[in-house]
Amino acid sequence: MKRGWTFVLCAAIFKFAACVWLAAGQTSSAAPSGPISPPGDSQATQGLPDDVIAWDAETKSSEAAVGQDCVRFSFNFTNVSGAAVTILSARPSCGCTTVELPRVPWTIGTGCTGQIRVSVDLAGKSGTLLKTVKVATDKGSRTLSLHINLVAPAQLAMTDAMRAAGIAAAKVDRQAVLKGECASCHLKNVQASYGKMLYDSACAICHEAGRRSTMVPDLYHLPAQTGFEFWRSWIASGKEGTLMPAFAAARGGPLDDDQIASLAAYLNATIPSN
Ligand code: HEC
Ligand code: HEC
Repeated sequence: MKRGWTFVLCAAIFKFAACVWLAAGQTSSAAPSGPISPPGDSQATQGLPDDVIAWDAETKSSEAAVGQDCVRFSFNFTNVSGAAVTILSARPSCGCTTVELPRVPWTIGTGCTGQIRVSVDLAGKSGTLLKTVKVATDKGSRTLSLHINLVAPAQLAMTDAMRAAGIAAAKVDRQAVLKGECASCHLKNVQASYGKMLYDSACAICHEAGRRSTMVPDLYHLPAQTGFEFWRSWIASGKEGTLMPAFAAARGGPLDDDQIASLAAYLNATIPSN
């Protein structure tokens, strides 16, 4: 997915980060603890502790129609620490992502709030996109994630009646969604697919639909701890008495053990545990 000119972008950021470092040194009278280390990956790999900046969310999801030009997000935050925090840079994972923030170094006083706006260019894109923005501060860095589900305009046009009929059928038999006419949408491209592709085909249709019912949880914001085994067992068995089907072949589902393991590994790597 990376473009050739990502390299150019990285080179530009490195140069820019060097200026930031020089400038940040001058603000040290206001900034308290710890020396400001040189920019680059050594700085970026240090995590920003949870009690410094509170974000309204660190992962944001959005649905967009294929053909839409771009999608916008904003991350709001508050400095909840007892000292000023300086944002040194906010670096997108891809050239198609643009980050807007005031001039850096940007110092946020105790109790003050700020906003980082991000827009993702969707030209030529399809499927599920995962983009990140790495925010580097003088107290460590944090990665913000954007999750965009691009759906065909036809899917967006699902009528309320069709939706109600689907829910009604699934309430009688939670496996109904994996059979017959339902499978033409719900199991599209599932055969012989693994990992992310499998997620996009089998799971995103319910879990990332913009208009999904409240019964369908947001997998990016689960209250419980997750892990490989958590994902594996939910995918294999689903849950009796709910709309979550069992995908394991042993339980009448469409997926073999290798597919389930690849999907669990993908989710475990993509969605950080709470
Ligand atoms: C037909 C729609 C539908 C599909 C398709 C679907 N799910 Fe679900 N899923 C649900 C619903 C509804 C629930 C809530 C179950 C409950 O009430 O506890 C759920 C629950 C879950 C949970 C538990 C979340 C929690 O509360 O801890 C996980 C994990 C999960 N699904 C993962 C997946 C994965 C991975 C896939 C793809 C293989 C998938 N789901 C496909 C509807 C769906
Ligand atoms: C034309 C494609 C299509 C067909 C056919 C289809 N579905 Fe769906 N289904 C979707 C989409 C898209 C969603 C996501 C919610 C939305 O967009 O309204 C969804 C969501 C669901 C959900 C989650 C409930 C919700 O409101 O989020 C259930 C349960 C479900 N479908 C069951 C079924 C069953 C059972 C059938 C067969 C009787 C079926 N669907 C047929 C496309 C389809």
